[in-house]
Amino acid sequence: MKNLALISILLATIPTLTTPFKMGNCDTSCPTNGTLPDSALSPSLIIPISAQQPTRAFGNTTLAKVTPSDFCTIFNLEIPPSAINKTCLLAFLFPTHEQTTAFYSFAGPGDFVFNGYAYGAGANPGTTYETQPASGPSPPAAKLVPGNAYVLNVGSCGVQPGQTEAVTVSGALCSNDTYFEFEQTREKGCPIGFYVAIS
Ligand SMILES: *[C@@H]1O[C@H](CO)[C@@H](O)[C@H](O)[C@H]1NC(C)=O
Ligand SMILES: *[C@@H]1O[C@H](CO)[C@@H](O)[C@H](O)[C@H]1NC(C)=O
Ligand SMILES: *[C@@H]1O[C@H](CO)[C@@H](O)[C@H](O)[C@H]1NC(C)=O
Ligand SMILES: *[C@@H]1O[C@H](CO)[C@@H](O)[C@H](O)[C@H]1NC(C)=O
Repeated sequence: MKNLALISILLATIPTLTTPFKMGNCDTSCPTNGTLPDSALSPSLIIPISAQQPTRAFGNTTLAKVTPSDFCTIFNLEIPPSAINKTCLLAFLFPTHEQTTAFYSFAGPGDFVFNGYAYGAGANPGTTYETQPASGPSPPAAKLVPGNAYVLNVGSCGVQPGQTEAVTVSGALCSNDTYFEFEQTREKGCPIGFYVAIS
């Protein structure tokens, strides 16, 4: 009986011991305007390209890479027909390491350009530096540094009446002075990367 009582005490203790520690109220805030409505669009395709390896296809990835005079990364976003007559806001969200657990590595002053491609043209998994889509309008160059959220463009979503399929908008992030690798995700704390909010 004594043993049984001891066992039942031990058993009763186990759930307490295995309950994970609560993380406390971990409410590190995101950069100003660095959160998103659930409806915001994430990229449908992320393709690094390399000027030094112009015929190599790196394929779809969640890890974007930008290096001076070599890597740029193309982001496709699919604007749905339901965005007709609506405003599209393109943002680049860039939390600090304290605000996201997503991997990123950033070194340099942070001067970036976003080379836009023609409306409706986008990368595919086989796209290389040499086979980039036709160029199109680009938002202005921007300085991107951690701890901020950047609105790169706000305007009509451009959906035409009668359009029944999503339209691809696409561009490549490049820099001549900064090394930047990051995991595009909204699931590791504050979101990081490119997003389009429709309103
Ligand atoms: C945040 O977003 C709102 C609405 O788009 C804008 O009015 C405001 O200027 C933004 N704040 C900053 C610091 O960018
Ligand atoms: C590219 O990867 C993203 C994220 O993993 C995924 O959602 C998307 O379907 C992929 N696209 C293609 C064309 O493989
Ligand atoms: C979009 O705007 C046009 C022109 O103002 C209008 O004729 C059309 O009904 C609108 N479509 C929708 C779905 O709101
Ligand atoms: C990088 O430098 C090259 C050569 O000067 C120039 O053609 C290119 O536009 C620059 N790219 C960026 C992203 O500033």
